[in-house]
Amino acid sequence: MAKAIACGLNNKFELEIIGRNKQKLESFIKDNNLANTIIHATNKINLQDKIVILAIKPYAFDSFKYKNKANTIYSIMAGISIERLKNVLDSEYYCRVMPNIASLVGEGTNIIYTQNLEVEKNASEIFSALGKCIFVEKEQLINSAGAVSGSGTAYLGIVAEAMIDAGVREGLSLDSSKEIVRSLFSGFAKLFEIKEASEIRLDTTSPNGTTAEAICVLENRAIRSAFIDAIHNANKKANSI
Ligand SMILES: NC(=O)c1ccc[n+]([C@@H]2O[C@H](COP(=O)([O-])OP(=O)(O)OC[C@H]3O[C@@H](n4cnc5c(N)ncnc54)[C@H](OP(=O)(O)O)[C@@H]3O)[C@@H](O)[C@H]2O)c1
Repeated sequence: MAKAIACGLNNKFELEIIGRNKQKLESFIKDNNLANTIIHATNKINLQDKIVILAIKPYAFDSFKYKNKANTIYSIMAGISIERLKNVLDSEYYCRVMPNIASLVGEGTNIIYTQNLEVEKNASEIFSALGKCIFVEKEQLINSAGAVSGSGTAYLGIVAEAMIDAGVREGLSLDSSKEIVRSLFSGFAKLFEIKEASEIRLDTTSPNGTTAEAICVLENRAIRSAFIDAIHNANKKANSI
């Protein structure tokens, strides 16, 4: 996620990137062409008046030492509440953001929670460089949104892989199966902008047709409840971190 965020914000904001390993930081800068970025290889972070985006693993955030008071902490860590952030980091404002990996191509979904209107404006300015910003009114909903959207790219990855494999089973070459599934995903995304999911499904399903046969198998294998239970478990996990 740090890579997606740094690449998305590069040349739009003045960036300082902090990490614990100098070599890794140097190759991070080189590999991602982050030429105008300042790097600090340290585990002691001076927050003084800074706008900070915390993109470390939830279990690792208190392994850094933080000094002074930040302007705003934007935490993308799954499951770490503002209350827990306050115990470790001093800041004027705190904001939780749940991005997803589509930020890498500027099409991310950033779910944001803040109680402050000024921070809301600033968060929009920063995170709209990575994709869409959607605000939620309760902090708890960040974990729910993370279970749907933060992890969602992984679920869709499984669907895409399975469909590519299925195409190959039905005789398509791997390359053409991939091309077809990619095109399907991007066409579906555009259609979904203007139609309900159920409408798209019904429009594709003729009585006694081929799609109805396929859907019958998916419903028999409980595809809907598999997704509902999966997202419920992801949310439960975030709530238990
Ligand atoms: N992946 C997603 O799709 C996604 C979506 C939404 C939110 N998030 C959140 O984004 C954050 C980063 O996740 P990620 O998937 O981007 O992971 P990642 O690519 O593995 O990046 C994790 C970063 O944390 C650092 N780190 C790991 N263990 C550490 C430790 N013990 N002490 C200090 N630093 C440590 C790593 O530093 P080194 O380079 O030094 O190892 C690395 O830069 C997480 O809090 C996650 O909840 C992820």
